[in-house]
Amino acid sequence: MTKNTSLNISRDLALNLEEIIGQCIAILGIRGSGKSNTAGVIFEELLKHNYPLTIVDIDGEYFGLKEHFEVLVIGSGGNVDIEIDLESAAEIAEISLEKSIPLVLDLSSYLAEERNEFLKNYLKRIWSLAGKLRRPYIIGIEESHEFIPQGIRTELKELIARIALRGRKRGLGTIIISQRSAKVEKDVLSQAGMLFLHRVVHEADMRVYCDLLPWRKSEVKEVITHLGTGDSVYVNGETILPIYIRERETFHAGFTPSLEVIATPQLKQVSQSIVAAIERAKKGKKHSQEGKLQQEIMRIKEKLAKKDQAIQQLEEVARTLGYIKFEVPSLVTAINPQKPAHSEKMANLTEEQHSAKQSLPTAVLYKSAISTAKPAVTDQNKTNRKQNGLPLAVMRHIESITTRVGRRDIPERRLLSFLINRAPAIYSAAQLAAWIGCAPEIIETIPLQNLLDLNLVVRERRIGGYHYRSNLKPFVLKEFSLYQPDIREKEFHLITVILKKNLTALA
Ligand SMILES: Nc1ncnc2c1ncn2[C@@H]1O[C@H](COP(=O)(O)OP(=O)(O)O)[C@@H](O)[C@H]1O
Ligand SMILES: [Mg+2]
Repeated sequence: MTKNTSLNISRDLALNLEEIIGQCIAILGIRGSGKSNTAGVIFEELLKHNYPLTIVDIDGEYFGLKEHFEVLVIGSGGNVDIEIDLESAAEIAEISLEKSIPLVLDLSSYLAEERNEFLKNYLKRIWSLAGKLRRPYIIGIEESHEFIPQGIRTELKELIARIALRGRKRGLGTIIISQRSAKVEKDVLSQAGMLFLHRVVHEADMRVYCDLLPWRKSEVKEVITHLGTGDSVYVNGETILPIYIRERETFHAGFTPSLEVIATPQLKQVSQSIVAAIERAKKGKKHSQEGKLQQEIMRIKEKLAKKDQAIQQLEEVARTLGYIKFEVPSLVTAINPQKPAHSEKMANLTEEQHSAKQSLPTAVLYKSAISTAKPAVTDQNKTNRKQNGLPLAVMRHIESITTRVGRRDIPERRLLSFLINRAPAIYSAAQLAAWIGCAPEIIETIPLQNLLDLNLVVRERRIGGYHYRSNLKPFVLKEFSLYQPDIREKEFHLITVILKKNLTALA
């Protein structure tokens, strides 16, 4: 004996369950034309045959199905059986498909973004799992224009379109419901195998109907505008029928309010096994989340330990670098004034190091600094620092000034050395030019101007033009004042002495 699979949707229509499997069904029409009722009737018929499904309900209209059927309403809001965790979308999808549990996803209380994210994860899992299981399953989506909008590309839209257009092989069917026919992706509508076209009035929607029906435009208009609530044009391949859809047997929460007082029905208690299954999914999710968190903490701890180690190494490098910087020749001169030749050799070395510092990445610089560090020099520098008692930062600053001046052209270095050695004596440009052996105009335009800019030389207007002298003392006071109170007055003197030696040695 064959099982009766006929579906009671309309007295005007003979439709079997088999025709629904893997089908893409579109239910269109303006608000109040009866779309949700039609969808509800189809869901009732499917549920009578224990057909597993998910209804994506963004207006909280379908919980009334519980009146007659074992449907689990999940999501958020007053009518749900279980408040769900938005993160558990994939697990819930898995349970529904694997255990053939019909679900109403009441997403009415979520923000659009949360809703879309949930749905994306939910449908992704349905799609991949259906590929393995290949069982009949249907997904109904209310207000579809929100999810598969014409002309806009989203991941969720592509997923729904894929299920609608290519789900058949996997047993997946879709029911697309929308009051904005013109705003629903045309590719999906034109590929739908079954249409329930309720009344529309807007020109844009009428144009969509004209594309879907093999009639003249005037005929389409004539038929469609005369449809009453619950009336629709049914299209299935060659079959085109004006039909009246029966009213829902179960409570229709989306009914148009009337003066009649309609009590919310006693909803059938949902099966405890279903609730338990979803609760287990939630728990499993929590456990796996806890596990993931633990792993994440371990990973971060390891990362921190590595970072600590790296910081220690860098500190070591920084210390080593500090000692290397003591190799600055001028400082050696200051400490060992009897060895100027050695100091000059070191000056070149420092310049090389300096240019390397500018062109090499920091890591490489550190590496080369480590490899060139000589313990003997380091020890000596430690002693030197003790001898002059200046803070390391001050020593570095002296070094950087020396290096800066060391990079100037020879005439500048010679002029500076001349003025520093004879300070506070003052000289005219002509005197300086004679000493250097060049025209006064030339030294005034470039070399002296550069020394003025460095603030190492100052000029005064006197009879016979500008006169120049060393500004080393005021320069040191100004340049090193930021190290106070770490350095005292007598140490300013020491810095001036060291700089004097360094800079004159550059000539
Ligand atoms: N076939 C029908 N027979 C009787 N009443 C219907 C029928 N279809 C819809 N209605 C009623 O019309 C109103 C609007 O129907 P609904 O399905 O909510 O429309 P839509 O979803 O298109 O906005 C509701 O009160 C509903 O009960
Ligand atoms: Mg509706």
